Amino acid sequence: MHTLTVGLADRSYPIHIGHGLLARPELFLPHLPHGKVAVVTNTTVGPLYLERLKATLEQSGIGTIAVVLPDGEQHKNWETLNTIFDALLQNRCDRRTPILALGGGVIGDLAGFAAATYMRGVPFIQVPTTLLAQVDSSVGGKTGINHPLGKNMVGAFWQPLAVITDTATLDTLPDRELSAGIAEVVKYGLIRDADFFAWSERHATELLGRRPEALQEAISRSCRNKAEVVEADERETGERALLNLGHTFGHAIENALGYGSWLHGEAVAAGTVLAAGLSSAMGLITEADVERIVRVYRLARLPVAAPDLGADRYLELMGLDKKVQGGRLRLILLRRIGEAFVCGDAPEALLKGVLSHPAHCPS
Ligand code: NAD
Ligand code: GLY
Repeated sequence: MHTLTVGLADRSYPIHIGHGLLARPELFLPHLPHGKVAVVTNTTVGPLYLERLKATLEQSGIGTIAVVLPDGEQHKNWETLNTIFDALLQNRCDRRTPILALGGGVIGDLAGFAAATYMRGVPFIQVPTTLLAQVDSSVGGKTGINHPLGKNMVGAFWQPLAVITDTATLDTLPDRELSAGIAEVVKYGLIRDADFFAWSERHATELLGRRPEALQEAISRSCRNKAEVVEADERETGERALLNLGHTFGHAIENALGYGSWLHGEAVAAGTVLAAGLSSAMGLITEADVERIVRVYRLARLPVAAPDLGADRYLELMGLDKKVQGGRLRLILLRRIGEAFVCGDAPEALLKGVLSHPAHCPS
């Protein structure tokens, strides 16, 4: 097992990463001092891992309340959030009852937002079970739900007490979901860690093949990068925005096609190719580097050509982004592989040019 720390003074917390951690009560017990925990999961992950986790906790005298939600991004909304509150109230959970998220990013974001708001805030534990959640969404405290007009538009920052990542859960993850997680691994290399990008180029095939050492390294290096960014800028007043590389374009894709049609990581990959294309059109990143980006996504079996929504529709949807300030789009662009920046003044003609030919990318 490998343990990292997210250093946030008195809200610092460990990220434990290893194989078989669901069977390790000593990792959970320090965070469950009152003998009871509400486990939020869904109809896919619950049947796979809930009993295993319950057995681990119950053998140490911890009672579990299971809240099993419908599966899917389309359920990351108020209605589902309310079913969590219903269950917490019906089971008389109080301010000391921790909420534990057992699932991917959708469950983590929903359960985290419930933890941030139930009785004005209760303890929270993340047990991520998708690669995307293990490398990104379980770390850093962003929680929330979607609004029909925009993704993740309602939420709160609420850091967990611990992230417990059992890499054995990836054994059951569908291939397409694994690829979607690799998109976020590649992201860290692109925005701040050129060596890690080169590593992901060399190991993309091993990651797809679920080689345990490759997965462990990808998760650890991703979490280290994310922890450093969050430690420097927890509330996203600066550097943390770079973690949204490809996301302004990607959220527009997800929103236009309907949440759940393209996976988040797929939309991020195609969105990053658009961001790289614009960066190149602005004379920043080289064509050769754009080709490297396209190549690594192709190796990871991710889409590189964004859907053709028309430039106007893209701009309309991108205008809903949380990074918009005073009506001005702020895009994450690339100077080179390993160096991203926030750009508030991308030339409109170049942006429209890229959005008018979204499927164009180097072969
Ligand atoms: P997800 O939670 O929908 O999980 C993907 C699918 O895999 C689901 O069907 C799920 O039930 C299933 N699944 C999960 N674990 C499994 C396992 N071990 N075996 C078999 N199936 C399993 O999607 P995701 O990609 O994990 O997360 C995407 C969400 O995360 C989006 O809503 C996105 O906005 C959010 N996100 C949040 C942050 C953050 O910082 N909070 C960061 C990135 C993404
Ligand atoms: N996934 C973006 C963030 O955590 O800031």
